[in-house]
Amino acid sequence: MDGWTLLIFFVCLTSITDSSPVMTRESLIKQINTQHFCANILKINNFYYSLAERKNLSGIPADISIHWKTGNIFFTKISEEMKMSLQVLRPSGEFETIKVAGLGQSTTVDNLNDIVYLATDNGVYKYKDDGSIQLYAALGEDVMYLAVSNDGGTMYIATWPQNRVHKLSNDGQKQEIFAPIPNGHGLTVDTRNNIYFVATKTSYILKNGESVPIKIKGLPTDKMTGIYVSRSDEVYAMDENSNLYVLEPENASARHLGTFSVNGVNSFAMDESDNILIGVKSAILKYKGYERDPCPQQKVNKKGKRHSRRRKTKKLTTTSTTEATEDYEEE
Ligand SMILES: *[C@@H]1O[C@H](CO)[C@@H](O)[C@H](O)[C@H]1NC(C)=O
Ligand SMILES: *[C@@H]1O[C@H](CO)[C@@H](O)[C@H](O)[C@H]1NC(C)=O
Repeated sequence: MDGWTLLIFFVCLTSITDSSPVMTRESLIKQINTQHFCANILKINNFYYSLAERKNLSGIPADISIHWKTGNIFFTKISEEMKMSLQVLRPSGEFETIKVAGLGQSTTVDNLNDIVYLATDNGVYKYKDDGSIQLYAALGEDVMYLAVSNDGGTMYIATWPQNRVHKLSNDGQKQEIFAPIPNGHGLTVDTRNNIYFVATKTSYILKNGESVPIKIKGLPTDKMTGIYVSRSDEVYAMDENSNLYVLEPENASARHLGTFSVNGVNSFAMDESDNILIGVKSAILKYKGYERDPCPQQKVNKKGKRHSRRRKTKKLTTTSTTEATEDYEEE
């Protein structure tokens, strides 16, 4: 904090004190909390984020997916002993281990049709909210990842060690090898049925109707964690250093939006309100998103001026390129 900021800060404090002659212990704590909250607001493009919650767990959370309707957060927990298990973090804050026949590898949620699928070493299962599971497709291969097309009609299933992707029709009638994608790490399908995957930490897109995947421009080539389609149909990507990008599927490019300043990101996801969940070793962090600056007063004091807010839209994609993008691309 430089002298000028300190002075303004002091003036601000004084005025707060003036306006409330009786300074109770509670109001002091509240004021300190507000200052702490406001000092930690992140501005990412046109959106404001604050770390709202940290859920500790033993191990690394991988492949986070969220059932928007229930708020259930699904992920694969990789324990210290490198053992994997499928977990659900309920809105109540409780973790639950999903019991599967065999080894659970990952989960995917078809949020349009409200179906949660489990990838396991003996096929694909549907997960019901009462915790029961039902076999969906027995492939005879170890399923690592899966993704479902927008209409729920087609499932893409990545298996290991064969390292191939199967395409399965909804009714299970037709199954074929889907050759355009060599392996299916981090398989994701957007609402226009473009397919994304990550190979050696580089993100690729296979555009709908094409047969050759292409490397997405504007993303780091060696540290991508995954891709997530938001409820507003936008496609986002995050790297290991929590840099958030929005993708332009049309021209297979990405635009840097900002960073959450968290390192060692293993997975990220977005909930029904575009809040962002970040999985790091031993924790899942939830960043609550605000359309408007929740601390406009503090921003005025800190920066000496207030940025005009031209838009109130929830989309992160509508503003021009930030300075941070330019910095990043210069590297
Ligand atoms: C979660 O872990 C962090 C970092 O190790 C620690 O500071 C915090 O107190 C833990 N929270 C809970 C509720 O245990
Ligand atoms: C891709 O398209 C977007 C939106 O039309 C545009 O802003 C961006 O400059 C394009 N990027 C490239 C690399 O062509």
